[in-house]
Amino acid sequence: MNIKTLAMMSLLLLSQNAVAEIVVGFAQVGSESGWRTNFSNDMREEAKQRGITLKFADSQQQQANQIRAVRTFIAMRVDAIVVAPVVETGWTPILRQAQRSDIPVIILDRNIRADEDLYLTRIASDFVEEGVKAAQWLVENEQGECRVVELQGTVGSTAAIDRGTGFNRVIDKHDNITIVRSQTAEFTRNRGKEVMENFLRAEDPYSICALWAHNDEMALGAIQAIKESGLAPGKDIKVISVDGIPDYFLAMANGLANVTVELDPHLGAPTYDVIQRYLKGDTDIPKLIRTTGDVYTQATAAEEYQKRSQ
Ligand code: AHR
Repeated sequence: MNIKTLAMMSLLLLSQNAVAEIVVGFAQVGSESGWRTNFSNDMREEAKQRGITLKFADSQQQQANQIRAVRTFIAMRVDAIVVAPVVETGWTPILRQAQRSDIPVIILDRNIRADEDLYLTRIASDFVEEGVKAAQWLVENEQGECRVVELQGTVGSTAAIDRGTGFNRVIDKHDNITIVRSQTAEFTRNRGKEVMENFLRAEDPYSICALWAHNDEMALGAIQAIKESGLAPGKDIKVISVDGIPDYFLAMANGLANVTVELDPHLGAPTYDVIQRYLKGDTDIPKLIRTTGDVYTQATAAEEYQKRSQ
């Protein structure tokens, strides 16, 4: 083969590599909340815009399904694996397999308890800070005695553990605020309604001052339960939550809820930025990339609802 043919062949190979399709496997938690659906949609849309092929697995809130999905992605030899973990523990063996296969792993949203070398980066909000912000609103808006009921998220998930920690850290310094009931409602609207009904049966409903829900979806279910009990959510029982989904902004605009701490669902762009950089050879990627969110109240809820529901 002469030099000219060799040069032509290398050029052809180079141009093929330049347009080589990137395939990403994404093991998502499930579709338990409006926030999660917005996040999944963002991942799909952003992949489409960049010409990235996204293999999407809805794990139905089961870690075992997520691990199976990751195993499949490894067998498919995808270019990168994204995991939004259901719970924090139990990830080391499967991440070791990905590492042995030289497939970078990106952790989104909730955290994992594993060696940092097993993943490229984590892109997430500070969940403790969210709990702190939620409690600060209550402290500023309730000077009298305040008995709180709490709807926790999925047991073992960072979003539930850290939001609880942040909220308690603040109210522990205020003797007038006490959590009198606390139970998981798994981040879903139906369970939020059921568990709130139980709280309202177990306590004198008129003695409950506030509901602290670890996400908007459970808060929306609980609002329905409060309404059905004859009390006014947002007035008789203050409603405090996290996420900032359109339905919750509507509830705040209608005076049925009081405050939410926003959780940014737009994780697609930062995720694919990192993957594309890494696949081009850039290894200078921070272990943690933070997203942030503001606190929203009834004051701007109608306006925010308009913006977010378009
Ligand atoms: O991990 C983030 C939480 O998961 C969101 O706050 C909740 O809506 C979702 O289910």
